[in-house]
Amino acid sequence: MDFKLTEEQLAVKEAARDFAQQSLLPGVIDRDSKMEYPTAQVKEMAQLGFLGMMVDPAYGGGGMDTISYVLAMEEISKIDNSCSVIMSVNNSLVCWGIEAFGTEDQKQKYLTKLSTGEWIGAFCLSEPEAGSDATSQRTTAIDMGDHYLLNGTKNWITNGGTSNVHIVIAQSDAEKKHRGINAFLVETSWEGVNIGAKEDKLGIRSSDTHTIMYNDVKVPKENRIGDDGFGFKFAMKVLSGGRIGIASQALGIAQGAFELATKYSLEREAFGKPIAKHQAISFKLADMATDIEAARLLVYKAARMKDEGEDFTTAASMAKLFASSAAMKHTVEAVQVHGGYGFVKEYHVERLMRDAKITQIYEGTSEIQKLVIARDILSTK
Ligand code: CAA
Repeated sequence: MDFKLTEEQLAVKEAARDFAQQSLLPGVIDRDSKMEYPTAQVKEMAQLGFLGMMVDPAYGGGGMDTISYVLAMEEISKIDNSCSVIMSVNNSLVCWGIEAFGTEDQKQKYLTKLSTGEWIGAFCLSEPEAGSDATSQRTTAIDMGDHYLLNGTKNWITNGGTSNVHIVIAQSDAEKKHRGINAFLVETSWEGVNIGAKEDKLGIRSSDTHTIMYNDVKVPKENRIGDDGFGFKFAMKVLSGGRIGIASQALGIAQGAFELATKYSLEREAFGKPIAKHQAISFKLADMATDIEAARLLVYKAARMKDEGEDFTTAASMAKLFASSAAMKHTVEAVQVHGGYGFVKEYHVERLMRDAKITQIYEGTSEIQKLVIARDILSTK
C-alpha cells in the first residue's frame, strides 16, 4: 500500500496546521478550563470546509478523500480535541451516514446544511443502559401510521446542546430485537426534544456533551434512514467510519505530545546537558516515535480501504485500538518528560493526557474494538 501523499493532501494538512496554530492554540487552555464551547472556532472550521470534508460538492461538501480528512483531524487534534471531536462527529458519523444511506430528499434537506457547517449534527446511540451493548436500545420509535412517536433518553451525546439535527437510533419492534431498530433524522427544534445538563468532563472539556430526552416526538416517516429495521446495521457501519476519525484524533494527540516532549527535552538541561541527551529520555522519544508511526500506518490503511470501497470495519477497529492506546501511553510519558512543568496547564501536555483517555472509550471502547477484531479473525478460520 502506497502512502505517498499527493500535493492536494499535503495542502490540506498544511491548511489544518495553520488553522490550528493561528486560531485554536490561542485560548485553548482557557476554553478547556472554563468548559467554554469554541463557537468562533467552529464557525471558522465551517468556513474553511473542515465540517463536511468528504461530502460530494453537489451537497456543499469538500469532495475530499478520507486520507485528507485524517490528515486534517491529526493536525487539529495536536492542539484542540474539543474542536476535533466536533469535527469528527459531524463529518464521519452524521454527514457520511446521510450521504451513504440517506434518501435524495434527506441529502437536500439536511446534508447540504451539515456539510457547510450551517447546521451541526449529533449521533445518538448510547443510552444510560445501552453503551457497549448497543442492541439493547430502550428508546422506542413506534409506527403511528403517518409518523413515528419517539420516546427515550440518550446520553454522552457529543454536540448534544449545540446541534440542529440528531441521528437517533431507536427500537421500533422489540420482538425483532436488533432487526427492529431504526435510525431517524430528528430536528432539535421539534416539540418534545429536551436537552439535559452539560457534562463536566475529564478531557475534551469545551466540547458539548449532554443527555437528551425525547418525549413523544413526532418524527415524519420520510425521516427514517434506510429500510425498516436497518437502524442497527446503519449504526454499526457509520461507527466504523467514525472510528477512523477517532483513531486520527488519537494519532494527533500522540503526535502533539511527542512534539512538545521533544522540544522541551532539547531545551531543558540537567546534569550539564539537554535531558534529550540522557538515554532515559531519548529512549522514551524513540518509543513514542515508533508507536506513532505504527498508528499512522494503521490509520492511513483504514482510510485508504474506505476510499477504495473495501470492508474497512476491522482495519478501523485496529487503528482505533492501537492509536488510542499509543495516545494514552505516550501522553503520560510526555508529562513525565516535562517533570513538574508537565503537571501544569501552561505546557499543554496535561490537557493532551486528559483528552487521550476518551479515545479509548467513545465510539466503541478498546474492549469492543478487540471484540470486533477477534470476531473477524475467528470467522475467517
Ligand atoms: N456492519 C454491518 N453490520 C454489522 C456490523 C458492521 N460493522 N457489526 C454487526 N453488524 C450486524 C450483524 O451482522 C448482525 O446482523 P444480523 O443478525 O442481521 O446478521 C447485527 O448487526 C448484530 O450484530 P452482533 O450479533 O455482532 O451484535 P452484538 O450485540 O454481539 O454487538 C457490537 C455488536 C460490535 C458489540 C456492537 O454492539 C458495538 O459496536 N457496540 C459498541 C457501540 C459503540 O461503539 N458505541 C459508541 C457510541 S457512539 C459515540 O460515542 C458517539 C459520540 O458522540 C462520540
